[in-house]
Amino acid sequence: MDPSPGAGPLLCWFDARQRDDIAWRGERDPYAILVAEVMAQQTRAGTVAPYHRRFMARFPNVQTLAEAEEDEVLGYWEGLGYYARARNLRRAARRVVSEYGGRMPSVVSELRTLPGVGPYTAGAVASLAFGLPEPAVDGNARRVLSRLYDLETASPSALERAARTLLDEASGRPGDVNQALMDLGSRVCTPRRPRCEECPLSSRCVALRRGTIGQRPPRKRRPRSPERVEAAAVVRRDDRLLVLRRPSDGLLGGLWDFPSVALSESASAGAALRAALREGLGLDCRVGEEMRVLRHAFSHFRLRLGVHGASWRSGEVTGQRVHRWARLAELGDLAFPAYLRRLIDEELSPRKAR
Ligand code: ADE
Repeated sequence: MDPSPGAGPLLCWFDARQRDDIAWRGERDPYAILVAEVMAQQTRAGTVAPYHRRFMARFPNVQTLAEAEEDEVLGYWEGLGYYARARNLRRAARRVVSEYGGRMPSVVSELRTLPGVGPYTAGAVASLAFGLPEPAVDGNARRVLSRLYDLETASPSALERAARTLLDEASGRPGDVNQALMDLGSRVCTPRRPRCEECPLSSRCVALRRGTIGQRPPRKRRPRSPERVEAAAVVRRDDRLLVLRRPSDGLLGGLWDFPSVALSESASAGAALRAALREGLGLDCRVGEEMRVLRHAFSHFRLRLGVHGASWRSGEVTGQRVHRWARLAELGDLAFPAYLRRLIDEELSPRKAR
């Protein structure tokens, strides 16, 4: 690895040009930082601010989160997606209360034992809240470091070594070094057309010197994820709609949705839904045409969900699933996946439902 490029110019740049849309900049409370960094794991950091504000107003410390019902926590997470993060965060708070007397651990090895806390999040909490020289390398920092040192593989261990080289020099400001690398990656060292003329590290950037910027970091080739085709029924009974709670341990666990069925290529959606309502829930329903198609990309598959209007004819709900016949106005109090919330707001709002 080349000689260290020095954290000084990086920190000067950070002091003058850091992002102003990161809500938790300057925050020192480790719990508030943990919440923010978990929210930012799969959501753009600039989008997190209002969610973080609402979450912190309701669950201002580890204790309040540990004591909260999972349902309520999921409600505050609605719109952020990847709900396992919310369930893990609540479990982490419970562990901090039961094992650490309600005080957040500061050491990376202890932080890593909390549910949902990986190397990035542990490093972010340790460095931002506790001032420990621990790396926190997100996708933006990965790009900066792999160009700065022209890392051919950008493996986690090579990135960690590169980050530690910078951290070692920045005695006293490890959190800022980590955040400066992230900000630099999002604002200057961008994937396409990086603005090297504005970069505080350009004079030491090995990839710039060698002309390999375009190849760094190496692209991860991901095959296109498979498509899952499902049909859902919005079943009306007088002025109420049938909603089901998803099992708490699976995909979108604990959230509410409408009865649905996976379709094979040959299946007729209407017939499959009628059968699923009858056999799975004990209901005889009239199922109408597909009224809307919703699409959502999960991390490991793409969902195509055809939504059908339906009306209840007879039967009472049987089976294991927790259910409710909810009035439209009550749907606002239940946590739905974001793609269903859009359907509820746009398609089923009282104005349209008449
Ligand atoms: N992305 C996630 N957390 C961040 C932080 N603390 N600073 C900049 N970008 C981030």
